[in-house]
Amino acid sequence: MCGIVGMVGDGRPCVSVLLEGLKRLEYRGYDSAGIATVHGGDFEIVRSAGKLRNLEARLGERKLTGTVGIGHTRWATHGRPSEANAHPHRFEDVVVVHNGIIENYASLKSDLTAQGHTFSSETDSEIIAHLLHRAYRDCDDLLVAVQTTLRQLTGSFAIGVLHVAHPDRLVVARRMSPLVLGLGETENYVASDVPALLAETRKFIFLEDDDIAVLTKSNVAIYGLADLAPIERPVRNITWTPAMAEKGGYKHFMLKEIYEQPRAVSDTLRPRLALADGDVALEELGDLEARANEWDGIAIVACGTSYHAGLVGKYLIEELVRIPCTLEVASEFRYRRPLVDKRHLLVCVSQSGETADTIAAVQEAQKRGASVLTICNVVDSTLARMSDAPLYTFAGPEIGVASTKAFTAQLAAFALLTIWLGRRRGVMDAEAGRGLLQDLIHLPVLMEEALKEDKHIQATARKFVRTNSMLFLGRGLGFPIALEGALKLKELSYIHAEGYPAGEMKHGPIALVDDETPSLFVVPAGASFEKTISNMEEIKSRGGPIIAVTTTGQDRVKDLAEDIFHIPPCNAFLESFLTVLPLQLFAYHVADLKGTDVDQPRNLAKSVTVE
Ligand code: M6R
Repeated sequence: MCGIVGMVGDGRPCVSVLLEGLKRLEYRGYDSAGIATVHGGDFEIVRSAGKLRNLEARLGERKLTGTVGIGHTRWATHGRPSEANAHPHRFEDVVVVHNGIIENYASLKSDLTAQGHTFSSETDSEIIAHLLHRAYRDCDDLLVAVQTTLRQLTGSFAIGVLHVAHPDRLVVARRMSPLVLGLGETENYVASDVPALLAETRKFIFLEDDDIAVLTKSNVAIYGLADLAPIERPVRNITWTPAMAEKGGYKHFMLKEIYEQPRAVSDTLRPRLALADGDVALEELGDLEARANEWDGIAIVACGTSYHAGLVGKYLIEELVRIPCTLEVASEFRYRRPLVDKRHLLVCVSQSGETADTIAAVQEAQKRGASVLTICNVVDSTLARMSDAPLYTFAGPEIGVASTKAFTAQLAAFALLTIWLGRRRGVMDAEAGRGLLQDLIHLPVLMEEALKEDKHIQATARKFVRTNSMLFLGRGLGFPIALEGALKLKELSYIHAEGYPAGEMKHGPIALVDDETPSLFVVPAGASFEKTISNMEEIKSRGGPIIAVTTTGQDRVKDLAEDIFHIPPCNAFLESFLTVLPLQLFAYHVADLKGTDVDQPRNLAKSVTVE
């Protein structure tokens, strides 16, 4: 996963830009970090194990002066988190940073070892520096040496390369790992992701697979790996601002992002609503419009939180449009022979648009002829570009590793897609569409209302902070939210948590219930209310403490739950937008009270760009 940032400057030392960029990329990995610059015919390299603050401390002791440099923040795949395994990796006259996995590194390493090379790290990445050194020695041309090296690699990579003989340039390349070029007036930059460079530029070029780019201070040139033919890529103006990637006075990015949700949902919905027609305007779906009546089924693929949004989407589409939907985690879908073909729409859901398993699932579906629509938060990301059409969420940059605002924005995208499909397939008339749209328009206000429970949720979190295990239970649209609540709690606070359909609990998980194992029920007013109340009775009679998320005015819940988080009444199809909010806040406060690293939980990374 790892984050890469690079700069070719015009006189000013690049280290502060690289460090600021790495801070914005730290969500991608935080096991170790390093920076290399070229200066005076040699490299200046500073690396450190652990979080970026360790690197920053080292940089305080050793000033780097070079104007051309690269930086890296690592999420370990091969080799433990240590200074020796931190990037950049140097071999002789070459320095390399790498994001991805070199699958054939073991055989390449044994060849190189047989030729007398010795290695100073346990990583797969270091071999790239060795291969480059050998290739350059043979051809004396840096671009050709990069091409020769990349041709030997299988797997995924985004790389940045410095060479002492070419102190004015930085060579970068990508395959299945993201890389964007940032264009300045008299400087140029590269990074794994846009927010890393927002303080320097809003002009970006998104590299494609097998692009090699050569950056100097006054130029960027892109070449195809196959034949080194020059390639033109469009320059995009990005509207995200640097402030959008700041904490804005909140203790953590995650808390800020929880509070941004009414805005994120509103921004995702508002430009697309055609209230008078009871319809949505999704011009971005382009040619898919003509195919909307041809699909026999919809397959949804995603990972993690995006998968839970997909489960809400499946319920909405099946209920309101009556098309069969399958939902599968992308890492399973990719290795089966999925039953999709040209009569299917594949909806892939991804905040980052860079998740390796989801990318592979899309490739599998495309091979079988399916149309692909991507619900995605990052403009021009790999998944957005691969698909027939992107349906963007406008949540703004999500920095906290635990996904929050991207989730509710994905729900908004599914609501739009449901109306779009329903209207085009003739199963939703204008009046029904208008009714749903009106409820959607009102949602951000209701979300603000639900967030007012925060203080009470924090007090409840204090009571449960020493819990070892917790169940999250719900029925219908409460089930995906139970899954999401459990995921949030475990990833942030490291407390074991299981999300389960409330009705299924009696088939096994009820054995976990005792007076120290709380159950959190998602039990809003609606069709499943009575049945869920019965499930709560079953837990209570076994002495299990109960927390409930319910709609204001549901008095029966009071007799069963010791703590209740209220949401305002709303359209039952849209309840997930509200029920998830107290669960996010609960997980946040438990983690904060426990003192875990809320924005960067252990072992995780924001974009999972490896299998
Ligand atoms: O960028 P994506 O939406 O594809 O990421 C999918 C998951 O990696 C992500 O949702 C992950 O589960 C988060 N840590 C959840 O908070």
